[in-house]
Amino acid sequence: MAEITLSVIKADIGGYVGHSSSHPEILARAEQLLEKHKSEGTIIDFHVTRVGDDCELIMTHQKGVDNSEIHKIAWDTFVDLTELAKKLKLYGAGQDLLSDAFSGNVKGMGPGVAEMSFTERPSEPILIFMGDKTSPGAWNYPLYKIFADPFNTIGLVIDPKMHKGFSFEVVNVKEHKKVTLHAPDDLYDLLVLIGASEDYMIKSVHSRETGEIAAVSSTQKLSLIAGRYVGKDDPVMIVRCQSGFPAVGEVLEPFTNPYLVSGWMRGSHFGPFMPVAVDDANPARFDGPPRVIALGFQLANGKLIGPRDHFADPSFDNARRIANEIADYIRRMGPFEPHRLPLSEMEYTTMPQVMEKLKDRFQPFE
Ligand code: F6R
Ligand code: MG
Ligand code: MG
Repeated sequence: MAEITLSVIKADIGGYVGHSSSHPEILARAEQLLEKHKSEGTIIDFHVTRVGDDCELIMTHQKGVDNSEIHKIAWDTFVDLTELAKKLKLYGAGQDLLSDAFSGNVKGMGPGVAEMSFTERPSEPILIFMGDKTSPGAWNYPLYKIFADPFNTIGLVIDPKMHKGFSFEVVNVKEHKKVTLHAPDDLYDLLVLIGASEDYMIKSVHSRETGEIAAVSSTQKLSLIAGRYVGKDDPVMIVRCQSGFPAVGEVLEPFTNPYLVSGWMRGSHFGPFMPVAVDDANPARFDGPPRVIALGFQLANGKLIGPRDHFADPSFDNARRIANEIADYIRRMGPFEPHRLPLSEMEYTTMPQVMEKLKDRFQPFE
């Protein structure tokens, strides 16, 4: 069988209620639209889901990445869903569709995209992670843990197929530059970049043993695309598992630590990334805390066998409890950094108005 492409394309086309969740009719309509493309044979299979107010289209096909036909399917679906969202007067209808006309590729138009092509292995387990109330840099920490940290992934130490390590493609989305770094050789160089996760993001990971693609993430930042606040650039990530890649359990393990991510309330606060079941992915407290879901599939000739809802598991209860404790603690800081993001990263600000109002009251100070 020729290469399979897995495309995950997502957009917030309207929230229910506020920015907290998605309306069931939206998901049903998306399924109906994609079913038509499946029956026509353009896509092999699909799964529609949502995290918070984001609608996620998971599709398999054989047209490769960046394919205009597939991107148009996603774009037209989001446009159609926006019409329904407007009819239901959902909140922020069409907020992630930044352009009126499709130009061949949804990148740069608002939706988030993670895609990869590969020859399906005899058994092909994959995990798809989707976040809400956060931003693309959120995947740096788990990708490092999964593919470079032997305290997380014992396979790096004891599996001969993983012992050479993995290569990381790191992009700087502000300067439009990228660099490939190899673990373990370049570990410290890698960390100095990806630890600054608002600037540097891991775009993809490859096996150094086989050259095969192991993981890919979405790196679209809506604020950079639009040049002003237009909504959250909630990201997605695909990870291939097992047989030379990290085990499913090694891929899920970093999420037992609810690390801090940016994007909570008004896209302007740090908060703990809480791993939850799809049914619990409705950020309610202070529009958060930020949520992540993990759906697992076995691919069978491009068919999506699944999903399994991997965070719907009691072994993540402790992570959720800790996330709630961190949320209680950090919320007490109110409008102070580091709960509030630094000035340059906030998506809402009144600073220009305040400075204008106070300009005559400012005095020189040595
Ligand atoms: C949306 C988000 C929310 C909104 C907040 C204010 O993803 O993060 O916290 O920023 O609810 O929304 P508006 O300005 O639309 O009233
Ligand atoms: Mg929204
Ligand atoms: Mg969202």
